[in-house]
Amino acid sequence: MPETRLLLKHSGDAAYRSIQGYMDKGGYAGLKKALSMDRQAVIDEIKASGLRGRGGAGFPTWIKWNGIEKEKTKPHYILCNADEGEPGTFKDKELMENTPHLMIEGMIIAGWATQGDVGYVYIRGEFVDCARAVKKAIDEAYEAGFLGKNIQGTGWNFDMYVHLGAGSYECGEESALMSSLMGERGMPRLKFPHAPLPTVAGLWDCPTVINNVETYACAPYILVNGGEWYATLGASTKNSRGTKIFSVSGHVNRPGNYEIEFGTTLAELLEMAGGMKGGTLKACVPGGSSVPILNAEQTMNAVIGYEEMVDAGSMVGSGGCMFLNEHTCIVTFIWRTALFYARESCGKCTPCREGTAWMEQILDRIRKGGGRMEDIELLKEICSQIDGRSFCGLGDAAAWPVAGALKVFPEEFEYFIRHGHSIVDGPEYRRMAPEPLTPAKV
Ligand SMILES: Cc1cc2nc3c(=O)[nH]c(=O)nc-3n(C[C@H](O)[C@H](O)[C@H](O)COP(=O)(O)O)c2cc1C
Ligand code: SF4
Repeated sequence: MPETRLLLKHSGDAAYRSIQGYMDKGGYAGLKKALSMDRQAVIDEIKASGLRGRGGAGFPTWIKWNGIEKEKTKPHYILCNADEGEPGTFKDKELMENTPHLMIEGMIIAGWATQGDVGYVYIRGEFVDCARAVKKAIDEAYEAGFLGKNIQGTGWNFDMYVHLGAGSYECGEESALMSSLMGERGMPRLKFPHAPLPTVAGLWDCPTVINNVETYACAPYILVNGGEWYATLGASTKNSRGTKIFSVSGHVNRPGNYEIEFGTTLAELLEMAGGMKGGTLKACVPGGSSVPILNAEQTMNAVIGYEEMVDAGSMVGSGGCMFLNEHTCIVTFIWRTALFYARESCGKCTPCREGTAWMEQILDRIRKGGGRMEDIELLKEICSQIDGRSFCGLGDAAAWPVAGALKVFPEEFEYFIRHGHSIVDGPEYRRMAPEPLTPAKV
């Protein structure tokens, strides 16, 4: 199956970044149509499309929009999660820099559907260029009467602001993002069913919709062409509809963002990216660093869909797809991933705060040649103590890659421990062995 470019169709076209260029190609037609419709009809259109959140969890978008109170008692907020911290993922960055109006239009549509008052685009601190592009596009949308007071003569008022984060991965987690936006420490809050959903009590305890950049960017297409049309894309899968952008990186000839229809295979995605570079396929992490790793056989058999990818042994996640060639040391790769999560753990809960650091230390010990055979069971035990027992999803995200690699590539860990060096014959891995051993802390 070839690429199906909707959101990325005009990505290389500089004119499309301005409101004039965007409108010349049909931009803001989706919003105009939405404004002519009843609010509930807009939500029904999103429901018919089968759109699910593109930030990682794949939650049905219409359920969030529909969960906002209909009899308005408080201000309603529309948040865009533009934190994009998941290693391997760089699609939101491209969308914001090249097609900022698409996301903004989607947010305004969400605002109309849910009686929104204010929208915030929470952009990760390092993405200064994105913030500039989005700010400029917001200013243009105000001038054109798509934001501000009495939008397009409807009597509805909606404002939008950009907020820069400070580069913390945890601030992409929706409740931590809201804490950060409110000026508190970027730590997560208690979740449903122990606390109300954000749609009931989110930002400043008011009804709040929070979606990913790519999720909002789909809304204009759905409004213009209809939910039923959108649902024809990806219809071969169990329950994944539309297109999904995959950020392809690693050992491929043409890394970059590829927009595919659900139902495409990982093998086809690899082909789009020009095939493997520097060696044959060994492994693939298809959905960002937190999802379980696949071996070559699993990769070549995997169909891209939320349920299909779970059947294949991994997840769609955020779409950060890393292909790894035969010269990759899985132990070193997983240690590097574990180091990221240990550093990004916010420290609020014990399983994640302690467990991520322990996993990193044990993997570091193994990769430096000082591993013990019992470390394998110890790592599995720590993973099971973190997964499902942490306060927020970062704990699970830290445990899955380690548990997945131990399951799919056990021989790599055993070899490293037995021989004190990697199963892979590469100078970068040979150098590891003579390094001083980390004192065993666990
Ligand atoms: C640790 C952690 C980091 C996350 N980072 C992001 C992120 O950078 N961008 C994002 O859209 N969602 C991220 N999420 C998912 C959000 O919590 C949330 O599910 C998402 O914004 C919902 O939008 P969607 O329904 O459109 O996917 C993260 C989740 C966790 C647990
Ligand atoms: S799982 Fe716990 S320590 Fe880890 S980031 Fe979430 S709240 Fe913080």
